[in-house]
Amino acid sequence: MRLVKVRSHEEMSEFAARHILDKVKSNSKVSLGLATGGTPVRTYELLIEDYRKNHTSYEHVFTYNLDEYAGIAADHPNSYRYFMFEHLFNHINIPNENVHIPRGTASDIKKEAKRYEKLIDSIGGVDLQILGIGENGHIGFNEPGTPFDTRTHIVELTESTRQANSRYFDEYSEVPKHAITMGIATILKSKEILLLASGEQKADAIYRMFEGAVSNDCPASVLRTHQNVIVIADEKAVSKLEKVRIG
Ligand code: PGA
Repeated sequence: MRLVKVRSHEEMSEFAARHILDKVKSNSKVSLGLATGGTPVRTYELLIEDYRKNHTSYEHVFTYNLDEYAGIAADHPNSYRYFMFEHLFNHINIPNENVHIPRGTASDIKKEAKRYEKLIDSIGGVDLQILGIGENGHIGFNEPGTPFDTRTHIVELTESTRQANSRYFDEYSEVPKHAITMGIATILKSKEILLLASGEQKADAIYRMFEGAVSNDCPASVLRTHQNVIVIADEKAVSKLEKVRIG
């Protein structure tokens, strides 16, 4: 696992956008695993800025989102599908049929999880997976305790994740209790992983990911078993790590 320390959220986003663009420009067909949340928003903005300026094409890009809330309609402003179109897809030339996001309102959600897993399998894992990290060390919606061999599945969200995500909802009670997410084994199939972290609220999770045991108490720690992971973290996110390493 390679750690790239940057000074700020902006530098983290610039690094990530450059890395994604290199991939998009270098292959005739590219699959990207994408994440929602506050962390990648600026990265997506930079991709849009590049598209406007340099007309980088996304016609050959296929995207696979990590997760989606269960029970929220696709066109609801809090759905992750809505988020992705709002923050990226509406502003670049990616064909709609190239976009894949788990369907949180599928009538048989377990079947939907299986379908999604098969889809990822059919491409042999994504070329580049973008990840954030939860304050509790989750990746996707794989909360602490999730076995490392889990495939795409339905999860009950923890209190801390629902609290963290309630900032996007009018009321805490509106935050869904369940979601559908790529599993840890699904994420590990990615050929390359880029994990982004900024802010001191992530310092504990980053510390545990690097220095704690590889254990499902901190799902992100499993990334230490993957051959091709880059963590881009700003000063605040690595603050606990540095104290340990210097001291
Ligand atoms: P955030 O979420 O980017 O909104 O901090 C990250 C995550 O929960 O994985």
